[in-house]
Amino acid sequence: MLIAALALALAALAGLPWWLPGRIVALRVRLFNRINGDEGIPVPGDLVGVDRFREVYSHPAAGGRSRGAALSDLFWYWLSPGPEMHQEHLEAGERYDAVARTTRRLLAVPRARAEELTRRCAARALTGLRGPVRLRDVMMPLWAEFAYELVFAEPCPREARDLITGNADDVVSSLKCTGLRHMKRRLRLTRYLLGRLSQVRVPLPDGLTPLEQAYYLQGAFFNTAVVQLSEAMAHLLMVLARHPAAQQEARTGDDRHLDHVIDETLRLYPLFGIAHRITTAGIPLGEHATIPAGSVLCFDYPAFHRAGFDDPDRFDPSRFDGPSRELNHIPFGVAANRPCPAWRLAPIAMRTAAREVLRRYVLDTSATHTRSLPNRGPCLLTPVGEPRRVRAALALMRVRDRWEDVWRSLVQLVLGTYMVWDARRRRLCHRHFHDLAENRDARRVP
Ligand code: HEM
Repeated sequence: MLIAALALALAALAGLPWWLPGRIVALRVRLFNRINGDEGIPVPGDLVGVDRFREVYSHPAAGGRSRGAALSDLFWYWLSPGPEMHQEHLEAGERYDAVARTTRRLLAVPRARAEELTRRCAARALTGLRGPVRLRDVMMPLWAEFAYELVFAEPCPREARDLITGNADDVVSSLKCTGLRHMKRRLRLTRYLLGRLSQVRVPLPDGLTPLEQAYYLQGAFFNTAVVQLSEAMAHLLMVLARHPAAQQEARTGDDRHLDHVIDETLRLYPLFGIAHRITTAGIPLGEHATIPAGSVLCFDYPAFHRAGFDDPDRFDPSRFDGPSRELNHIPFGVAANRPCPAWRLAPIAMRTAAREVLRRYVLDTSATHTRSLPNRGPCLLTPVGEPRRVRAALALMRVRDRWEDVWRSLVQLVLGTYMVWDARRRRLCHRHFHDLAENRDARRVP
């Protein structure tokens, strides 16, 4: 009897990696929903189907960005300091226009220059690498240097690179609930940027204080640009590591093929889970239904990207061989409603960086690959031309990844619950707009 119970307990323990993380993730989602309330209207969902997804997203009344959504308090918390100056979260108006114009000017880089810059940054980031790595960690210094040079038009000093990666890693880890926010680390970058404002290669938006200008740069370039490009590249390289035939084709094929691999990667693993908007007026849905003003619309990228594709979970870049305008594929958002300003530059930079990696290494992985990528993309790099002895290393990686998942899901549950609670307590977004309405100084401790 005792032996049977012991055997059962051992079997349950050995099986933890297969059943516990999934349950904990489900519990976390339930808890978050409970704390956040169910203010959002999911799109696609019961009210708005896939067929009207783009129409509603593109509607002029789907324009509110932060004010009036409890969800904004959470994003502002994760993106602090200066979330009120983050382009993504500024409400429409003069300030937004000035900021968006500056971002466009900083990103307007000719293709050849973008490729040359990416190659140079990749060469430095990839020097001396081999064996097991985490792809997101490999990519972050590359994009930190890239973003720095976009902004300051000079090579990135090591001190700045470390400040930028420290900030970006802290933001993305807290967003994924694998770590808490370290505000001192983030504010060190703010102070550095404050001292360098006069060296930015385009004029910064008028009417902003120096601190607001530093927050703007930190938000768009040293947070969003670095995080998004690092995550996107980690996904792309994970996909290639998991599909050896596609990897070989990408290594030898033309740019068009590699672009389709990138498209398919971003279809399967869109960087945004949801993007939310607050309606500024009613949106009619036909004769009998209207989405009322003040609603929070939650546009669900993964759901939209799966709809209308055969076997949607299968990796298949040939889906993009034909015309792609009509496909349910919006990795950079929708053109009519604040799309990503890097929609042209990001794929060029990603393709160039992928070529640099594939030219140097063969990639292998046995780790799990999910959209949120909390494991940061474990991968084995074998220099091209060297014998690939990876079987034992891949077996070890598999076991380690599954067990890390058990521990990580518990950490995410605890830290995530704490941060959601803390964000609801601080109500950074709500208080900002409340103070603005009351005409008080809206700047607060982040
Ligand atoms: C592969 C990389 C990237 C992907 C997939 C991506 C995706 C997106 C998406 C989907 C949105 C729109 C979300 C919405 O509708 O609310 C967005 C917005 C934005 N992205 Fe990106 N992004 C990437 C890289 C970058 C880079 C390199 C920058 C550099 C500055 C950047 C800056 C921004 C900004 C500032 C916004 C807010 C736009 C606005 O509200 O005016 N992104 N991004």
